Amino acid sequence: MKFGHFDDSRREYVIETPKTPFPWINYLGSEDFFGLISNTAGGYNFYKDARMRRITRFRYNNIPVDDGGRYYYIKDGETVWNPGYKPVKTELDSYECRHGMGYTTFTSSKNGLSAQLLAFVPLGYKGEINRLTLENNSTEVKTVSVFSLREWCLWDASDDMLNFQRNFSTGQVEVENGVVYHKTEYRERRNHYAFYSVNRPVDGFDTQLEDFLGMYNGFDRPDVVFAGESKNTIADGWQPCASHKNVITLQPGEKQSLIYILGYCELPEAEKWEALHVINKKPAKAMIEQFATCAQVDAAMDALRKNWDRLLSLYNVEIKDEKTARMVNIWNPYQCMVTFNMSRSASYFESGVGRGLGFRDSSQDLLGFVHQIPERARERILDIAATQFRDGGCYHQYQPLTKKGNNDIGGGFNDDPLWLIAGTAAYIKETGDFSILDAATPYDCNPNDTGSLLEHLAASFNHVVDNKGPHGLPLIGRADWNDCLNLNCHSTTPGESFQTFGTADGRVAESVLIAGMFVAIGPELVELYKRKGMIDKAEAAQKEIDAMRETVLTHGYDGEWFLRAYDAFGAKIGSKECDEGKIFIESQGYCVMAGIGVEDGRALKALNSVRDILECEHGIVLQQPAYQTYHSNLGECSSYPPGYKENAGIFCHNNPWIMIAETVIGRGGRAFDLYKKIAPAYREEISDLHRNEPYVYSQMIAGKDASRMGEAKNSWLTGTAAWNFVAISQAILGVKPGYDGLTVDPCIPASWDEYTVTRMFRGAKYVIHITNPKGVEKGIASITVDGTAISGNVIPVYPEGTTHAVEVVMG
Ligand code: GLC
Ligand code: GLC
Repeated sequence: MKFGHFDDSRREYVIETPKTPFPWINYLGSEDFFGLISNTAGGYNFYKDARMRRITRFRYNNIPVDDGGRYYYIKDGETVWNPGYKPVKTELDSYECRHGMGYTTFTSSKNGLSAQLLAFVPLGYKGEINRLTLENNSTEVKTVSVFSLREWCLWDASDDMLNFQRNFSTGQVEVENGVVYHKTEYRERRNHYAFYSVNRPVDGFDTQLEDFLGMYNGFDRPDVVFAGESKNTIADGWQPCASHKNVITLQPGEKQSLIYILGYCELPEAEKWEALHVINKKPAKAMIEQFATCAQVDAAMDALRKNWDRLLSLYNVEIKDEKTARMVNIWNPYQCMVTFNMSRSASYFESGVGRGLGFRDSSQDLLGFVHQIPERARERILDIAATQFRDGGCYHQYQPLTKKGNNDIGGGFNDDPLWLIAGTAAYIKETGDFSILDAATPYDCNPNDTGSLLEHLAASFNHVVDNKGPHGLPLIGRADWNDCLNLNCHSTTPGESFQTFGTADGRVAESVLIAGMFVAIGPELVELYKRKGMIDKAEAAQKEIDAMRETVLTHGYDGEWFLRAYDAFGAKIGSKECDEGKIFIESQGYCVMAGIGVEDGRALKALNSVRDILECEHGIVLQQPAYQTYHSNLGECSSYPPGYKENAGIFCHNNPWIMIAETVIGRGGRAFDLYKKIAPAYREEISDLHRNEPYVYSQMIAGKDASRMGEAKNSWLTGTAAWNFVAISQAILGVKPGYDGLTVDPCIPASWDEYTVTRMFRGAKYVIHITNPKGVEKGIASITVDGTAISGNVIPVYPEGTTHAVEVVMG
């Protein structure tokens, strides 16, 4: 069952009912100021950091779900309704929500009045614009009251929901000309405030939530709205909010717009005040003036659209399969951009409080968005590298506001360092900017202790070399990519965090996944050394890689597939000898991507085992058989009920590793089948089962051991976005950036006869037309560029601004 449809020409998903199986959200903002917005206008805003600088409040785990957002109550006679249906939930005569690229619109109507609400964050602006347009479609004059509502968060989202003994006494606001200024803690250590304005004189306001709602009411039954009169309250402690009342009279056929701004201002210490206790409102007023008229709003929307036109033109496919086209051309790159901005911090599954920017996560995200925003990728790489230690280890995450690493969710994940090499290599291939390797970058966030980025990459590589276990495989540390394979923690006390309890320093537990990563990613460093003329280092590194490859074949293969690990007692994990967890997905994916066992058929066997044992109709589960009982030697993965998350859920993040692995052995049809199983556009028809948004990937789909098999969770913020983009754009469609040009190497279903990829690369445009007259899955018969045949399959780098026609014939 579907709850909406794709409108590809407008790059929107059109939601046709507010009653989706779960809130379906979108993200507003592309630089510093962000908003989450659901299909009932729920959600919240923050500046840069969802934990430390939360602007509006949102209660996770609330009942009803998704309460709190940008609410506009329209009181038309005795009827009160909202353009987004919630919170009053008056049945609407019509409802439509369109989530687009960085904006969301609602178009609804009730009793002859229609409302259109547009929400977006203009480029370069620290605020969210909400334009509410009312149109009288009846034959009578209508006078309605519009009440807005936002609830302030007291900045630190964690403290805001824990420390009520303090917070209920600190909330403060000012109101001037109908603009509500939120200034909690401004008189002491903060030099920032937020404001909420509307572009016309108000007929009342409120700033104390309990007075606006009534002490025992919810958002659905605000006293003020149902009484029709604001109380003009000035908050003093408790829960500050911001509400305006505007009375609007509309002639039949008349339309009027109100422009609301939720803005954020920061001031230098010396300019904070106008007078004692009176904040300096100059910057807010300047922001308000920027969007006083509809023409200004339209111009900013236009600029936003143009920006997305440009971003989405960088990689484009024309292909008969419209679902692939909409994923590749619109939604997958869009999700990649969101994961770049948010990492794993703020979604409807991530509270914004728990996690910052992950070393591993953000490094992998780079693979998906580097072509869109190379300059910001460069900055991100250096920020990430700055949280690395001299020995190559690193903090697992950092807060975006301070860029300081922390161990709040554990440290000592031994896969982390390698991802920095992968992200950096992707950046250099895309841009050709080798200078980044020379950039001086701190260790341990200490500006007085720096090394070049290349030295950081060497530290990453050596971290593996210096930390091998009894079989010569890499020690796993706290865990590897699978955060829940906690081999050194051995927790038996309820509530202990698997990520922070115990030690990460075990010298026995080893990871075949990290070994595969080392063999797959290590050669990037070898290549960088060569290009820097550091031949000795290149050779030494290559030796380590070759040795690791041998070690995997000797100690990391189990007959029909790659082992997963050895535990702290030296026992095999992911082996036919195990009762449960006999085979895991991760090592099959990475080892084959590394090319291990491709020549002697072991890779083929491993992938066939994945197909036969791990695959189901909804994707590939993480391992089998699922753990039925808790194993303290394995940790969190066995703590999940069978079929969910790391205990045999379909982890969409590493399904593309298998897709890519399938292309390594030339099975394009298999790769694409796997792609379709988890790509959201292909799951749209089963939205009632899938439940999460049909336009973005979720981290996990419940696996075959789960009673709710096929149900997705944790949408939006997942490495799934980047990896699926890599799988489809580079491995299947086969256009891949390299140091010396674009490599073309499609691996597709035999039934595809042609498609065209248009790719911007280092400023030049490549129009690559691929035909498949013989119906093969892989292999190229000929390539011409601008009519001239080339040898090999690397299309060279051309001058910026030029366009090149590339004809590729497979066979
Ligand atoms: C989550 C984490 C990611 C980890 C994965 C598997 O998605 O963000 O870092 O690799 O889970 O545990
Ligand atoms: C939990 C999740 C895992 C995530 C981790 C982050 O263990 O299962 O997916 O990566 O938390 O700390």
